[in-house]
Amino acid sequence: MIVLAIETSCDETACAIVKDGRDVLSNIISSQAELFEKYGGVVPEIASRKHMEYMIPVVSEAMQTAGIGFGDVDAVAVTKGPGLVGALLAGISLAKGIAMAMEKPLIGVNHLEGHIAANYIGWPELEPPFLCLLVSGGHSHILRVDDYTDIKVLGRTRDDAAGEAFDKIARAIGLGYPGGPKVDAHAAMGNRSAYDLPRTKFKDNPYDFSFSGLKTAVLNIANNSMQKDGAINVDDICASFQYTVARVLVENTMEAADETGVRTIVVAGGVAANSGLRREMAAECFAHGYKLHFPPLELCTDNAAMIGSAAYFHLIKGESDDYSLNAVPSLKLGV
Ligand code: KG4
Ligand code: ZN
Repeated sequence: MIVLAIETSCDETACAIVKDGRDVLSNIISSQAELFEKYGGVVPEIASRKHMEYMIPVVSEAMQTAGIGFGDVDAVAVTKGPGLVGALLAGISLAKGIAMAMEKPLIGVNHLEGHIAANYIGWPELEPPFLCLLVSGGHSHILRVDDYTDIKVLGRTRDDAAGEAFDKIARAIGLGYPGGPKVDAHAAMGNRSAYDLPRTKFKDNPYDFSFSGLKTAVLNIANNSMQKDGAINVDDICASFQYTVARVLVENTMEAADETGVRTIVVAGGVAANSGLRREMAAECFAHGYKLHFPPLELCTDNAAMIGSAAYFHLIKGESDDYSLNAVPSLKLGV
C-alpha cells in the first residue's frame, strides 16, 4: 500500500511517500525554522502562509524522488492535529484535493501517533506492546502502546513540555530558536554537576512531569550571574539543565516499566534527538535489561514519513475519513 502523507502542523512543510507503513520511498521537508529564528519562535500566521507557498513544490519533489505518479498512490494521509489550526488546515485542504481528484481514501492522522510511528520506520522488527516516552515541543507523555492504534496515556506534563523547556531556556540565555539542538551542543562542553537543579515528583501520579520549576531555577541562575559577573557560563547551565531533564524523563519511564512489566522502551518526538537523553536512557535500559529504541535522528523532529507510517496501521483496519475532515488543534491521544 503506497501512502502519500502530508504534515504541516507547525513550521515544517513536509510530504513523504511510504510503502506498507515502514518503507520510506521519499521524505521531503521544507523547514521554516531559520525564518522564525529572528522572532524567537513560530509566528502562526506566517507559518500558514509559508505552508501555502511551499506545499505544492514539496509534494512534487516527494513524488519525483519516489519515482511514482499520482496513479500509484493508494491513500492520502494528513496530520489533523494537534498543532496550529491555520497550519493544519493548509495541509488538510491539499490532502483533500489530491484524494478527491484521484478518488483515493483520505485519512487524518494524530501527529503524536506519527512521532511514535517514526520508530516503526527505523526498526522494522518493532511491534507493540511497548512503553513510549514521547517528548516534543508541545508534549511530554509516558504512553503504553498496546497495539498500533491502541495507546493509553500513563503520565503527562502538568505544565511545560520538555522541548518547550529547552526552547525557553535557550531563548533566555541568548541561544535563539529552536533551542533544543543549541542547548544540546553547549551541554557537551559543560559540567553537568555545576548546578544542583530542582526536580518535581508527584505523589498522585509518579509518571507525570513538571518542568516549570526547573525552568524558573535556571532563569534565576542566569539572571543572578548576569547581575554579579556580567556573564553566564552557558555551557555549565546547559549541561546541568539537560542532565536534570534527562534524569527526570528516564526515572519516570523506568518506574512505569518496572510497574507495568512492559520490557520494551521506545522514545519519540523532537527531544528524542537529545544526546543527554539518549545516553541516560541507554544506560538505564541496559542496567534494567530493557530493550530500547530511538527513532533515526532525521525522523525525531517533524516529518511526513512518520504520518504515512501511522496512517498505514489505521488504513489496514479499514479506517478512513470523509471530506468533512477538519483540523483538531488540541487533539489528544488515547481518548
Ligand atoms: O517533535 P517536534 O519536531 O515538534 C513538535 O511536535 O513539537 O519537536 C520539536 C522540539 C523543539 O522544542 C526542539 O527544541 C526539540 O524538539 N529538540 C531538541 C533537540 N532537537 C530538537 N531538544 C533537545 N535536544 C535536541 N537535540
Ligand atoms: Zn512534532
